[in-house]
Amino acid sequence: MNPEGHPNWDTDVLIIGSGAAGLRAALAASEHANVTLITKTTLTESNTHYAQGGIAVVMNLDDTIALHIKDTCDAGAGLCDVEAVEMMVSEGIPRVAELLEWGANFDWEGTLPRFTQEAAHSRRRIVHKGDATGRETTDVLIQRVLNTERIHVLQNTFAIDLLTDADIAKARGETVTCYGVTAIVEGEVVCIRARATILATGGLGRVYPCTSNPKVATGDGFAAAWRAGCEMVDMEFVQFHPTTLYLDGAPNFLISEAVRGEGGKLINIRGERFMEKYHEKGELAPRDIVSRSNQKEMELTAFPCVYLDITHKPAEFIHERFPTISDTTRRYGLDISVDLIPVRPGAHFMMGGIRTNTDTETNLKGLYACGEVACTGVHGANRLASNSLLECLVYGTRAGTNAATFANSYQSSVISAQFQEGFEAATRHSLNDNRKLKTDDYSIEAIKDAIQETLWENVSIERNGEGLRQTLAELEDLTEHLEAVRATPEMTTISMIETVNMLDVALMITRSALMRTESRGAHYRADCPTQDDTNWHHRILITHDNSPEVIPL
Ligand code: FAD
Ligand code: SIN
Repeated sequence: MNPEGHPNWDTDVLIIGSGAAGLRAALAASEHANVTLITKTTLTESNTHYAQGGIAVVMNLDDTIALHIKDTCDAGAGLCDVEAVEMMVSEGIPRVAELLEWGANFDWEGTLPRFTQEAAHSRRRIVHKGDATGRETTDVLIQRVLNTERIHVLQNTFAIDLLTDADIAKARGETVTCYGVTAIVEGEVVCIRARATILATGGLGRVYPCTSNPKVATGDGFAAAWRAGCEMVDMEFVQFHPTTLYLDGAPNFLISEAVRGEGGKLINIRGERFMEKYHEKGELAPRDIVSRSNQKEMELTAFPCVYLDITHKPAEFIHERFPTISDTTRRYGLDISVDLIPVRPGAHFMMGGIRTNTDTETNLKGLYACGEVACTGVHGANRLASNSLLECLVYGTRAGTNAATFANSYQSSVISAQFQEGFEAATRHSLNDNRKLKTDDYSIEAIKDAIQETLWENVSIERNGEGLRQTLAELEDLTEHLEAVRATPEMTTISMIETVNMLDVALMITRSALMRTESRGAHYRADCPTQDDTNWHHRILITHDNSPEVIPL
């Protein structure tokens, strides 16, 4: 990058993120344009890489597109965009078939993939590679990306903010256009300028202390988009996975829902199986219900975890079916074929995000979004297990194709005067921000901890008005504190920018959750415990300069 030390890098299509959405978008875009793909750390580090359960797809003989659509919409608790769901389910079939053709070595049984069961699916429709489906998927996509000449990959490149012509466009009453990003490379702020930009930066689990997400998931893309004027929707809907590992010294680690799909039972510290008490589907109840039930049992027994028990299955089956879980827990002295697995709920997935249509267009010209950072409305108020990787493949492909078409439209007029003007304005604006960066700042770490603590306390599995108002006040205080730290230029570090981003997304989640005075899907308000279809069959839109507002479905 920048061999001559110039602060700019130019490309046709810029893709930010190397999860399934970004990688798939890069492959699609490269069929029509030159692509630069940047990623925060290494190509392999992403939520996608750690995906365990699998990909939901209609390939089994007893399955239908209509059934998968119904299951998705039922899980979404009335807020799914049905057109987006139909597209995901039907276009998902060729997308998964193509992944298999490209060499994804999923588990097979005879002439068909071996389908597994997950909660709230009416059929066995999850294709998988043991419990390492994400790794297999990214391996195949990364190999293909690296073999594609038109894709240039920049690792360890941290996107800060979107470059836009907001000042000019707003003065003229025109739509704001995005021209790429500012990014940190080897401690320098650079401009990466693009005719079209795709945000594929994944999730935000790390704003919570207990999460299944890796370190990179600090919500950077949500925050950068919000600051640039993007419309954000459904931000109150954070999914908590019922079973993350709770073991002294072990890192955040998911215990896949597929363990329950294969017969795993949940029991409390007293040895009582409890899920039947909460839902007729027991351990395979919708994810939000299992998470709340686990939490409830932890409170009732005053114990910091519950247990998952798969020991009734043959040891050989367990180790073969769940090799990653088996190996990881073994490192901490636990053999899942004989021991109970201590688990507790953790933040897992963001249903909301940057508002896009099914062509992945945002409200900024030239800016596209796909994967977990985007919100087409495909998940509604709660995501059905294993629908996320499917979404990434389908909407990643659409984003790549559409962004490349948009980028090429500029070339027809040899870069229009307007593009050139906007490009320059965006660059000038951003270069004012150019400064040397340094690392390590402990007070920033303290702010991160405070954000996580208050969100966990009041904006997690169970919420109420009083707690949400308290967290909002605390986040506003932290914002002021952070502004003071931020005012010192030498304090600008990646860690600080991540903290700003965490604070921005924490505010979006809290404000939206406070506004929705009902319970629906993953959003549970103890002070308004029922679903209110009369007043709340709507979505909440939040933008940087306005309070949250209710919009029709
Ligand atoms: P990610 O895969 O998270 O990729 C985001 C990329 O953006 C990363 O490369 C990241 O480094 C990069 N990035 C972020 N910020 C910046 C920045 N500032 N600058 C540059 N780059 C940046 N879903 C399923 O469907 N099936 C499953 O079995 C499943 N299991 C899961 C298990 C775990 C442990 C987790 C955490 C999630 C699981 N999910 C599963 C959810 C699913 O994996 C994710 O929602 C999906 O992979 C998101 O893909 P993505 O491409 O949108 O984002
Ligand atoms: C899991 O394997 O439990 C995660 C599946 C998902 O989040 O879709």
